[in-house]
Amino acid sequence: MAKTVYLYTVGCQMNVLDSELVASELLAAGYQLVHSPRAADVILLNTCSVRQHAEDKIYSALGRLKHAKQRRRQRIIGVLGCLAQKDQAQILRRAPHVDLVLGPGQLGRLREALEEIENGRGPVVYTSWPRTAGTRAEIARSFASFDPPRRSEVRAIRHQALVRVMFGCDKFCTYCVVPSVRGPEQSRPAAEIEAEVRRLADQGVVEVTLIGQTVNSYHDRSSGRSVRLADLLYRIHDTPGLRRIKFVTNHPNHMDDDLLMAVRDLPKVNPYFHVPAQSGSDRMLKLMKRGYTAAEYWQMLQRIRSIVPGAAITSDFIVGFCGESEEDFQQTVDLVRRARFKNCFIFKYSPRPGTKAAELLADDVPEPVKRLRNNQLLAIQNAISLEDNQALVGQFMEVLVEGPSKVGRKLCGPAAGQLVGRTRCDRIVVFDGQPELAGRIVPVLIQRAEAVTLFGALADCQPTPPLAACDACKAH
Ligand code: SAH
Ligand code: SF4
Ligand code: F3S
Repeated sequence: MAKTVYLYTVGCQMNVLDSELVASELLAAGYQLVHSPRAADVILLNTCSVRQHAEDKIYSALGRLKHAKQRRRQRIIGVLGCLAQKDQAQILRRAPHVDLVLGPGQLGRLREALEEIENGRGPVVYTSWPRTAGTRAEIARSFASFDPPRRSEVRAIRHQALVRVMFGCDKFCTYCVVPSVRGPEQSRPAAEIEAEVRRLADQGVVEVTLIGQTVNSYHDRSSGRSVRLADLLYRIHDTPGLRRIKFVTNHPNHMDDDLLMAVRDLPKVNPYFHVPAQSGSDRMLKLMKRGYTAAEYWQMLQRIRSIVPGAAITSDFIVGFCGESEEDFQQTVDLVRRARFKNCFIFKYSPRPGTKAAELLADDVPEPVKRLRNNQLLAIQNAISLEDNQALVGQFMEVLVEGPSKVGRKLCGPAAGQLVGRTRCDRIVVFDGQPELAGRIVPVLIQRAEAVTLFGALADCQPTPPLAACDACKAH
């Protein structure tokens, strides 16, 4: 009988993609995927370390899994991903029932590790080198790329796919654990990415999202010629079957005009930029080692908006970073008010062991103040998102249908027949329609707006009102 595997994933899109690849590889090796840990011979947790909360969730899940292991001793419990790289063998001390600790740069050794454990040679710990353990090339090699053939049946939405264009990070923002858990910045060869996008499109994928920690610093020199992100967009743009291209996450310092012009000129590339600011205070930005001032970030926003009119821009902010005063926070509030982001992700600062901030700066903003600032900033951003979304009511938007809507399911049960999709500027739209529309791009008339969701109706079902397109769509 086929062995069963349960795979639980937290963290960013890097982890979502890693889990898809792990699932693809295990399926190819004859495993069967199951949706409950109870039914599984192998339980794998793909983990995140970016904030303490993400780690706590995993350690408490591991606590619960102790009984699962006691019930069936043959069962294999594995910790994959960033926490595996960060805590390494320490995981075995806190959770001795764990059989496998596998860093994100070691996923290619998963099958070998499972075999070793089955043969009684566990527990197995495979992690990559620490950032100070050798030359850059040696460390980079220890964070190996993992690219097994992809199976569309393991993707939540089959016609959308993440494509890794680079991994790792060399920025070393003082609060961030990513450079140590994901290793040095490495760009994948453009030819490999092109071939992967072609294969995905042949499988029916209509939208690809190119991912990297700082995706706009993509730079492939492997063919002897320099290929930047803008060049890569041109190279994949005409892939037959492909309808949309997105890319995340951008760093403000690499938002070159070439890239902006590529987004403007290539109709399949969405006019959408996720470009985290982190703070509006120069003092905080310096302590965070972000490498730009609030004024420089602002100028970058202006450049995006002048070259790609109507582009949707989103950001991340950290509140309560070391020494953040009320005045520093007000500068962030001011930036958020002026920038009119489509939406923002706001995080309370969480000290990460091993980072410069955790070693050198005091985490001195009290938790209630962090919470208050988080809520205040969120409320300001939500009001802006709502206002800007309401301005879209009455317009037609091109929506790529993802599938049945969770909102619809929650409100009215699975028979509700509501679909969810995204506009070119990455806004979420909920509307009535048949599930067979999944993967299609349809015109939707926007009728109502909330801060994060637009509600509308398939334009085909409407009397023909005058055609108006949102600014971003007009730009094409
Ligand atoms: N590579 C991306 C994002 C990486 S992590 C970038 O450079 O912007 C995603 C987000 O988590 C970050 O943008 C930041 O806002 C947040 N984050 C990272 N480390 C954090 C920490 N120690 N505490 C709180 N938030 C953090
Ligand atoms: Fe972390 Fe900064 Fe790298 Fe983003 S750019 S992953 S925040 S170190
Ligand atoms: Fe978390 Fe690792 Fe992503 S720390 S945010 S899963 S790169």
